[in-house]
Amino acid sequence: MAPRKIIIDTDPGQDDAVAILLALASPEDVTVLGVTAVAGNVPLPLTQKNARIVCELAGKPDTLVFAGCDAPLKRKLVTAEHVHGKTGLDGPQMADPTMPLQGQHAVDFIINTLRAHDMGSVTLCPLGPLTNIATAFNRAPDIIEKVQEIVLMGGAYFQVGNITPAAEFNIYVDPEAAEIMFKSGVPIVVLPLDVTHQALTTRPRVDAFRAMGTKVGDMVAAWTDFFERFDKEKYGSEGAPLHDPCVIAYLIQPELFTGRHVNVEIETVSELTLGMTVADWWRVTDRPANALFIGNLDAEGFFALLAGRLARL
Ligand code: BDR
Ligand code: CA
Repeated sequence: MAPRKIIIDTDPGQDDAVAILLALASPEDVTVLGVTAVAGNVPLPLTQKNARIVCELAGKPDTLVFAGCDAPLKRKLVTAEHVHGKTGLDGPQMADPTMPLQGQHAVDFIINTLRAHDMGSVTLCPLGPLTNIATAFNRAPDIIEKVQEIVLMGGAYFQVGNITPAAEFNIYVDPEAAEIMFKSGVPIVVLPLDVTHQALTTRPRVDAFRAMGTKVGDMVAAWTDFFERFDKEKYGSEGAPLHDPCVIAYLIQPELFTGRHVNVEIETVSELTLGMTVADWWRVTDRPANALFIGNLDAEGFFALLAGRLARL
């Protein structure tokens, strides 16, 4: 099969960084048309810079990186330095990137790229708040039919929330953008906390990254060392969830994942449950299914894929 054409929309973030590395290491499976940065884990000037740091680390400085929206559609930006550190990529020392940021706005890139492609031929991979993509859909509804699938990290059903008791970070930051996505009619695959919390960076898994003896292996190990202190304290877990790489792993090896086609609605009104993904997992309504909501992961298979691919960089 020809590699899938993808746009990675992201707010790096250590786990976003690993997702980008996995995609860039997998040209037989995915062609990265561009990486579009959005404000999320940290403000936009840092996410676009971090995206370039990661592409350079991968040895792919010719990757097109664009800066997009610096704030959610209707709300003030909420960030997550408490998880990712001040730079978003805290942990190891990283030099500033030398590869260029593209001049075009990320939203224009998304619109122009989709317009230049056939119907249903580009997959969007949001790893952060959905602001860039919702803005593109609002501004150019004609591009919606060009999207093959949206495969996103966000939301939760059984795990409920991480930024509030009821909501997952990516959806909470821009719930109106998420609502546009879920009402768009595009086929959606959701990698929620329910599954990403199964992708834990246990000691042997981090040691395997370090044992690669490469700069990428060392960086990924150092990032996860930093990133996991937060989740270990919070959940008492053995390591940190590698949320965003689940999106790229799903594209490469979907058989590692199982889920259900269900209806997903986004709470945009209630202050208490703002950004909640109301997934009809038990199919108790007759609301039509609008997403494949993933619930389970073969974690050993996932980490074997990740280690194998990252070792190539
Ligand atoms: C999501 O929020 C961010 O902090 C991570 O990068 C991931 O995309 C998990 O809730
Ligand atoms: Ca992210």
